[in-house]
Amino acid sequence: MAKQLYIETVGCQMNMLDSELVVASLRKAGYVVVDTPAKADTILFNTCSVRQHAEDKIYSALGRLKHAKKYNPNKIIGVLGCMAQKDQKLIFERAPYVDLVVGPGQLHQIPELIEKIGQGAGQQLEVSLDRKAGSREEIEQSFESYDPLRDPQMRPTPFQAFVRIMIGCDKFCTYCIVPSVRGPEQSRPAAQIVAEARQLADEGCREITLLGQTVNSYRHTAAGHTSRLSDLLAQLHDIEGLARLKFVTNYPKDMTDDLLAAVRDLPKVSTYLHVPAQSGSNRILQRMKRGYTVEDYREMMARIRETVPDSSVTSDFIVGFCGETDEDFDQTVELVRESRFKNSFIFKYSERPGTKSVQLHADDVSEEVKRRRNNDLLAVQNAISEEDNQPFIGRRVEVLVEGPSKAAQRHDDGSEQLQLVGRTPCDRIVVFDGNRRQVGQLLDVTVYDANAFTLFGSIVTAHVGPEVYTL
Ligand code: 5AD
Ligand code: SF4
Repeated sequence: MAKQLYIETVGCQMNMLDSELVVASLRKAGYVVVDTPAKADTILFNTCSVRQHAEDKIYSALGRLKHAKKYNPNKIIGVLGCMAQKDQKLIFERAPYVDLVVGPGQLHQIPELIEKIGQGAGQQLEVSLDRKAGSREEIEQSFESYDPLRDPQMRPTPFQAFVRIMIGCDKFCTYCIVPSVRGPEQSRPAAQIVAEARQLADEGCREITLLGQTVNSYRHTAAGHTSRLSDLLAQLHDIEGLARLKFVTNYPKDMTDDLLAAVRDLPKVSTYLHVPAQSGSNRILQRMKRGYTVEDYREMMARIRETVPDSSVTSDFIVGFCGETDEDFDQTVELVRESRFKNSFIFKYSERPGTKSVQLHADDVSEEVKRRRNNDLLAVQNAISEEDNQPFIGRRVEVLVEGPSKAAQRHDDGSEQLQLVGRTPCDRIVVFDGNRRQVGQLLDVTVYDANAFTLFGSIVTAHVGPEVYTL
């Protein structure tokens, strides 16, 4: 009988892609994927270290498996990804029944490691070098980018895929664990990326999202020719079958004019830019070592609005960073007010062992103040999101249909009218009635209502008057 695999993924899109690749390699080794840990022979957690909360959740999920392992000692339990790289042996100490700990740079070894464990070799640990444990070249080589194998069934949908264009990060923002767990910044060769995208398009993918921690810092030189993200987008734009190209996450300082021109000029490139600001206070930005001032960020926003006027910009903010005063926070609120982001992801600062901010500053904002600032900033952002969605009412938008919406239910008479969900090129969520055959298609939808998070619409069936798209 086929071996059964259960995999749980938390964290960012990079992790979702890593899980897709791990599943692809294990399917090749004879595994099938099951939907509960109880049915599985092998249970894997692909983990995140960006905040303490994400780690706590994994340690308690591991705690719940202690008895399962006692009852069935042949079950293989593995911890993959960023927490594996960060905690390494500590995971075996905290949960001795874990068999496998594999960092994000070593995932290609998983089938072999599982086989070894099956043969009685005991606990296996494979991680990359620490950032100070060798020369730059040695450390780079210890992080494998691991991309060739794909698994359509593990994608967000069969027609949407992630493609990694870079690994690692060299920005070393003082709060952030990513540069130490995901290693040095390395861009993949453009030719490799284009080949992978072509293969995905041949398999029926319509939308590709390019991934990198600072995706717009992409730069790769081969045979004396340097490709930037704008060059890569132009090349990918020519691939037949692809309808949409997105890229996340952007670093404000690298939001260059050539990239904005590419977003403006290439119709398949989504007019959606995720560019985290993190704070609206120069004092805090400096403590975070973000490498820009709030004036630089404003100047960047002005260039975005000027070059791509109909674009949607989203941001991340950390509230309650070390030493953040009410005045600092007010400046963040001010930046959110004037920037009119489509939405913002807001996080309470979570101290990460081994990061620069632990050495430099005390985590001195109370949990209560962090919570209050989080709620306050979210309220300001949500009011803006709701307001800026209103002008969509009455407009026609182009939607890539992703599937049935969560609220969808089959009608009692068995008819196929479903509530579907999709996205506009500017990444707004649209909900509308349709049928299953429309999943994966690009459709025109007229919007009749909107709240802060969703546009509600109906599919345009008759063509009346000239076609005018809005984004
Ligand atoms: N605490 C809270 N939020 C963090 N982020 C990164 N590190 C931390 C931390 N230590 C946030 C940043 C980043 C997003 C992915 O997570 O806002 O953009
Ligand atoms: Fe972390 Fe800063 Fe790199 Fe983003 S740019 S991954 S916040 S170190």
